[in-house]
Parts: sequence; C-alpha cells; structure tokens
Amino acid sequence: MHIPVLATEIIEALAIEPGKIYVDGTTGGAGHSKMILEGKPEHLYSFDQDKEVIDRLEATKDWSLVHSNFKNIWSYGKENNVKINGGILLDLGLSSIQLDDPNRGFSFKYESDLDMRMDQGLEFSAKDIVNQYNEKDLADIIYRYGEERKSRQIAAAIIKYRPFDTSNKLADLIKIIYARGSNGKTFRIHPATRTYQALRIEVNKELEVLEEFLELDFDVLESGAVLAIISFHSLEDRIVKNAFKKYVSECKLELLCKKPIIAKEEEISQNPRSRSAKLRLARVL
Ligand SMILES: C[S@@+](CC[C@H](N)C(=O)[O-])C[C@H]1O[C@@H](n2cnc3c(N)ncnc32)[C@H](O)[C@@H]1O
Repeated sequence: MHIPVLATEIIEALAIEPGKIYVDGTTGGAGHSKMILEGKPEHLYSFDQDKEVIDRLEATKDWSLVHSNFKNIWSYGKENNVKINGGILLDLGLSSIQLDDPNRGFSFKYESDLDMRMDQGLEFSAKDIVNQYNEKDLADIIYRYGEERKSRQIAAAIIKYRPFDTSNKLADLIKIIYARGSNGKTFRIHPATRTYQALRIEVNKELEVLEEFLELDFDVLESGAVLAIISFHSLEDRIVKNAFKKYVSECKLELLCKKPIIAKEEEISQNPRSRSAKLRLARVL
C-alpha cells in the first residue's frame, strides 16, 4: 500500500472546498488524490504519465484521470478551458506500484528488463543508457543524479562488462565494486541504490520536465491557487526553490513557508520514504 507522504500538511495547505478545482500531477497509488476528493472539491484532474497507473483507477463525475506528463497541465488547461483555482500537487518520483512491479526494471531485486521508463511511450530506456552512453557521460550522470562517490569506477566497470539486459545483473556488478575494500562491512542501503536513482532520473528526464512545469501559465492558474511540490532529491528541491523565488520577485506568487516542510519523526517511523521528502508551498497572487 502506498502511504501518502506529508498527507496532513498537504490537505491543510490545499484548503479543499466545494467550488475549487485541483490537479494532482502525480497520481500514483492515488493516496493524495483520494484525500483531495474527500474534501469534495468542484473537480479533481489526476495526471500520471504511466498508463498502468491510470488504468487501475476509475473516473467519476468529479474526478478526471489524465494519462499525461504533468508538464502538459498548462496545455491541457487551455485546450479544455480548465481554470485551476484550488491548487496543484506534485509528489515527485516513483510510486511503490512501479517499484514493486517485477516487469518494470525499477528494482534491482528482480531479474527484469532494465527498463525504468515511467511513461511506456518513451523511446529510451535504462538499458539504452547503460549500453550506449560513453564512460564520461555515464560517470557524470551517476555522480550528479545519484550523488554516487564511486561514479567513475562504476562507469568504467559498466563499459567493461556491458551489455546489460537485466536489472539485477547491473546491481550485482555494483555490489562487487563496493565489496572490494569493504573488509566485509555491510551497507545501510544496497550499493546500487544511488546508481539506479541516477538512471531513473536520466531515463525519465525528471529534472527537465520539472523545469518545464515550472514555466507556470497564469492564464490557467487563478489567484489563490496553491502549488504544493514534494521532492526527494536536492536537485529537484533547488529547482522548485529557485522558480518560486523568481515568481515571488515578479509578484506572481507568495510563499506559504520560507523553509521546506519535512516529515515529523512519527511519520518517518511509519513511512521511511517520507524521510527525504521536502514540501514547498506557494500561492498564486
Ligand atoms: C510518488 S508517486 C505519487 C504517489 C501519490 N501521491 C499517492 O499518494 O499515491 C509518483 C507518481 O508520479 C508519476 N510521475 C512522475 N513523474 C511524472 C510526470 N512528469 N508526469 C506525470 N506523472 C509523473 C509516476 O508515474 C508515479 O506514479
């Protein structure tokens, strides 16, 4: 079961009430979407770029399901004459539905195709990156998106031992690199975690689509609408912080919190994913 992160804080900030229109840009297990619906808004549009996520759900008269990237919220709003006066939520990253699916290649636990595309229509998968990128580009991605200090060693080993087809084969290689010189010490997280995160971010162009979304369209957003963005990576959080700052200086947004909101200890103990969550909130002026 996917537990919605920072649920209380999100519901409080979105101030859901009849007459208001909301967008959940990252539906996933629909935990947040269902909570928004409980507040009886005028309408909720729930986006997800993953067709399997959307197909699991059933729309109602108050709830539209949109199989699309959240960067398309603005064009969707224009084409369908939707004015967002309630707010938009983004809960970035991967859902547990995707992570736990042995056929999607997100988890190194399974012997699955090294895929990692959240949108099955994307042309490029993790397998293409691992088998085609040059050593420098691989090292740069693994370092930048994964904050992996052994990025160069991992990239060199990938070049040496590729091609890679399955998810667990690459993870095993990274484990071997870490095991060298570890003197039998065990690791808090699997040594492949950071490299996998980096590949996922590159496959799905996660930073680029966030930047595109943050080219906000104030013809679609109405005054009072709240933007709530939960990120799990320092690069994502920086992008959100800088974009909000720019709009504040242009008098288009006001910040609802100066510092990002983080999960309380109680939530972290029940839902470890919330540990690295950072929520930023702003309201359209
Ligand atoms: C962390 S989950 C969301 C969980 C959800 N808030 C809940 O409570 O169940 C992230 C979801 O966002 C989707 N997603 C990630 N990036 C996206 C994007 N750029 N456009 C649309 N959906 C995206 C993923 O496919 C995934 O299903």
